[in-house]
Amino acid sequence: MRFPLDSGYLEYQRSGSGIPLLFIHGYPLSRKIWQAQLSGLVDIAAMLAVDLRGHGASYPFDGPYWMDLLAKDCYRLVIEQKVDLPLVVCGLSMGGYITFALYRNHPEIFKGMILTSTRAAPDSPEGKVNREAGIKNVREQGVPVIVNGMLPKVVSTKTSTSNTALVSTIQQIMLETSVNGVIGALHGMRDRPDSTPLLAKITCPVLIVHGADDQLIPVAEAELMSRLIPYAQLVVIPDSGHLPNMEQPQFFNQAVRDYLDGLS
Ligand code: MLT
Repeated sequence: MRFPLDSGYLEYQRSGSGIPLLFIHGYPLSRKIWQAQLSGLVDIAAMLAVDLRGHGASYPFDGPYWMDLLAKDCYRLVIEQKVDLPLVVCGLSMGGYITFALYRNHPEIFKGMILTSTRAAPDSPEGKVNREAGIKNVREQGVPVIVNGMLPKVVSTKTSTSNTALVSTIQQIMLETSVNGVIGALHGMRDRPDSTPLLAKITCPVLIVHGADDQLIPVAEAELMSRLIPYAQLVVIPDSGHLPNMEQPQFFNQAVRDYLDGLS
């Protein structure tokens, strides 16, 4: 489905019935990462999964994509599509940074929050330098150079040796991201604020899900968030890297199901 936005549009899809649940993907990914949830949680959640600006099938708007801007896009989508509020927001990695921005600006729409493979801290100075290098590389060589650099680190060793079909699906999803999308997101992530001070102010119940073998964001970041958020529960998924919802979908879905059961 297409949601008109400014001079372009966002693509999104809906599935299931029950507790309203918005999925926000990471970088450079799309709503396609949520397929196992969109089919596996139909009996418990009214799900909406969006392709962020410049990602998947959404319009490749010019950046930078500030986290506040991406959060505002999500807010407009749920308000204008008349999603029942309050809702649960599930953000993965950059989707988690956006979830924090959405909570900062509109805490009233939150029934719950699922933070997957993400962190509250901003980029380190070295991280910012790497974002700059990524921007230069994608301008000069296109999206494959980004995908080739990220792909070996995005899944666990177990997934990369035992599930090559999944690795190739992830590669295809990443390659669908536009050059503008990559640049816009890299700029936005580089300059995102520190969300650590927000953690103590989150009043809804939070589920934190993290892959034990995440090479991009260490599990220590999830442990830190679980200590600082007042009502947080941490589930660490074995044999999973940065994409536990795809690498261990049954494990991930059960954690979400248990959490949603506790909310209703
Ligand atoms: C993501 O998966 O969204 C990115 O790895 C997050 C980041 O680069 O900070």
